[in-house]
Amino acid sequence: MSGEAISRRTFMAAASVGAMGMACPAGTAFSATVAGTARPALLGGPRIRTRPFPGWPVWDPEAEEHVLSILRSGNWFRGSGNTVTQFEKAYAELLGAKRALCVVNGTNALLTALHMLDVGVGDEVIVSPYTFIATYNVVLQSCALPVFADTDPATMQIDPNKIEARITERTRAILPVHILGQPANLDRILAIAKKHNLVVIEDACQAWLGEWRGRKLGTVGDLGCFSFQNSKHLPCGEGGAVVGNDDDLMDRAHAFHNCGRAYGGMKATSGYPIVGTNRRMTEYQAAILLSQMKRLVADTARRRENAAYLDARLKDIPGILPQKIYEGGRGAYHLYAFRVKPQALGLSRGRFMEALRAEGIPCSGGYGPQYKDGLIEDALNSKNFKRSFPAERLKSYREELVYPENDRLCTEAVWFTQNLLLGTKQDMDDIANAVTKVYENRDKLA
Ligand SMILES: Cc1ncc(COP(=O)(O)O)c(C=O)c1O
Repeated sequence: MSGEAISRRTFMAAASVGAMGMACPAGTAFSATVAGTARPALLGGPRIRTRPFPGWPVWDPEAEEHVLSILRSGNWFRGSGNTVTQFEKAYAELLGAKRALCVVNGTNALLTALHMLDVGVGDEVIVSPYTFIATYNVVLQSCALPVFADTDPATMQIDPNKIEARITERTRAILPVHILGQPANLDRILAIAKKHNLVVIEDACQAWLGEWRGRKLGTVGDLGCFSFQNSKHLPCGEGGAVVGNDDDLMDRAHAFHNCGRAYGGMKATSGYPIVGTNRRMTEYQAAILLSQMKRLVADTARRRENAAYLDARLKDIPGILPQKIYEGGRGAYHLYAFRVKPQALGLSRGRFMEALRAEGIPCSGGYGPQYKDGLIEDALNSKNFKRSFPAERLKSYREELVYPENDRLCTEAVWFTQNLLLGTKQDMDDIANAVTKVYENRDKLA
């Protein structure tokens, strides 16, 4: 389907936004000067935005034909076709990596990478607390400790200045997350890893085509991991990939994801040199990915252009601080994010988001301080953790779970999802005008 055609998901989004629009006086886009004088939609005034933003995912008839032909062939498993292999080659090429290995999702890509780099029971992994929960889960599931280094609030990434103090004799890896699609500071992270003889696994699950000094994110560390879940820029429902430049390691990763069969022996019933699991992607998922990949470069360029435009329009509004990117990096913008400073803005984050949503701009507050949610305690109290770590280490680990910068960011962040960035400049103006309008009406809204 083309971007203009309405998928069920787009229709649902259109229907809900449209329905909200009908309840209010018809609104058109405001110029920044008009925005402030109009009554806020939250107080019964006209909405800035009544049309839906672009829906996601978007697909084309070519993909429908390809998926149907695989369905009709009955060759759904990667061992009876070559679509997964074809996608792996094309994706590796697009990233400038030697190899890519498809797996069932990003979570399992991370689990595979940790396993292949021998990170496991009794180890510690340095990771950012500001991430999707899967990054915590994979370390805990590997019976290793996720040792958090506090967040750099300006970039929302792991703060490289906080990493070294967290390294112990058990530390085996650094797992930087390129969160929201923007790069972690890989120069600093790689230098620290080298100094302490640690491996680096990039969680690039939100960062397809993001860059660090001209290299694609996910290809810079020892291994990189991607997610192809439905909301992602390269989606197939559920899917993921491990990317690397070391042939031996990738051969072993392939064997591991294929029940431990020797690499090349896709359907062998004997010849299992290593312990393995089954994390194979299906052929029809890869067909969707091959088609989705065709739009990724152009979509990324559009998201970047629109993000830069929004940065320029929002940065001078008091109390609004757009996410910064480290020098040398380029973002993929899975989310467009900024921080709000309530005192300068004149509104709490909650009230600001409420007012923005009323203007027809969908937004959220993003991650909470998830390390406080219970999963860490759940793991530490388990039989496996008690056996794998001395009691004193578990005690000191609990005491270290204090991340003030991260916690503050969790109360200040505002996110827009990536599909908003696929809109036109006029769509970006609607967003910026809505923020301006809310700011200019802060006294009435507070
Ligand atoms: C940063 C990050 N890591 C890991 C994952 C896990 O990927 P998946 O949902 O494909 O398992 C995600 C997915 O949203 C993610 O955003």
